[in-house]
Amino acid sequence: MTNKGLSTDPYKGVRDFYPEEMAIQSYIFDVWAQTAESFGFERYDASILEPSELYKSKGLENEEMVNEQTYTFIDRGDREVTLRPEMTPTVARMIAGRRRELSFPVRWYSIPNLFRYERPQKGRLREHYQLNCDIFGADDYSVDVEIISLAYHMLLNFGADASMFEIRINNRKEMTELYNAAGVTDSNMQTKITRLNDKFRKITKDEYKNALMEIVQDKEITQKIYAIVSGEHKEEQNEVLRGLQLLGIKNVVVDRSLARGFDYYTGTIFELFDVSGENNRAMLGGGRYDNLTSLFGGEPVSGIGFGMGDVTMRDFLQTHDLLTSNITAPLLSILPTDSAYNMEAQKIAQEFRVAGVSVSVDCSTKKVGKKISDAAEAFVSYVLVLGENEIRDKKYSVKNLEEKVEVSGTLAELTEKIAT
Ligand code: HAM
Repeated sequence: MTNKGLSTDPYKGVRDFYPEEMAIQSYIFDVWAQTAESFGFERYDASILEPSELYKSKGLENEEMVNEQTYTFIDRGDREVTLRPEMTPTVARMIAGRRRELSFPVRWYSIPNLFRYERPQKGRLREHYQLNCDIFGADDYSVDVEIISLAYHMLLNFGADASMFEIRINNRKEMTELYNAAGVTDSNMQTKITRLNDKFRKITKDEYKNALMEIVQDKEITQKIYAIVSGEHKEEQNEVLRGLQLLGIKNVVVDRSLARGFDYYTGTIFELFDVSGENNRAMLGGGRYDNLTSLFGGEPVSGIGFGMGDVTMRDFLQTHDLLTSNITAPLLSILPTDSAYNMEAQKIAQEFRVAGVSVSVDCSTKKVGKKISDAAEAFVSYVLVLGENEIRDKKYSVKNLEEKVEVSGTLAELTEKIAT
């Protein structure tokens, strides 16, 4: 009997990041961070562990998430602890903790890993990373426009264009008014309808209407609400939509079926979708929540923000062919023709690096032809083959692998050429 050993697979629904996956991951995080900072956002972070009560308190409760989706355990000191399933309660806690010292509005971002016990499927895993961008202490609708514009620029900065995605917005306050006008004034009933709307696009028209009828117990009201949610009853535009249009952002629609799963949203809510048809899950979701920090006592500080997942981001980039070149390949690879020249290669690499060029040295014992094809496969732009002649004459040739052109010269000449 052979000993098969332990499995090399990661735990169900989580990922290992081998260098080629990590390269994509780092690229995504870099674009996220740079874009958030270009809007004046400051980075924060926190532990993945939170006391479970944070997710059970009034206002934060999300039954599905707390009862079915959290990783919760008892620590050795008998405390109930949860691996954070989202960042919003944590950031609300942190803002509330510094409420007196902070000068509002503040713009904060973070890239936490989050844990949800979900059935792994396309776009959904048990651990994902989520960019969180939130603005606290500003109620003006221009801030709603700003945060959605930030979401839009996230996509553009990955090379996407506006025809590849759509932003859907809605507003919880406006929905309350629409429910009232349709004859549903009871707030519990309104919450039930909102939760049902969250499934609107996943169930059939009849299933939706039947479930709605069960909640409101009235045929006419069912018709009215269906007309609103399905968009049959065309809406006037709202101010956030107009604000976005003023900024030239046109791929936005008001979608009254948009509900969002969390009870804490109080105003604008929004999601962003890939329109290719390949990826059905929202890539990003968020909204305004005016009362969350009041859980921690004192006057509430209003917040608005979004979460954007790395799994859906990566699917989007792959679908739209926006990951074609290897993002972390060095610009230049030095290929010694014999291991005797490896140390000389290191010296040359050093000179290029000082000039700001990223360089690797292929110190393997492979034939030089194979070294060149390896470099090309790894998306390296230039190669410098280092042999006896180059070392003797102190003259080198650098070949551009894509354009197949070669330039020769001294090290000083070449570093200058490549670095620019
Ligand atoms: P959410 O809609 O639950 O919102 O998640 C936001 C995004 O995170 C989703 O659109 C998706 O890209 C990604 N995501 C969520 N769950 C998973 C999963 N299991 N696997 C992979 N990706 C996932 C929130 O979490 C809110 N706290 C966002 C927010 C921030 N609202 C205001 N500020």
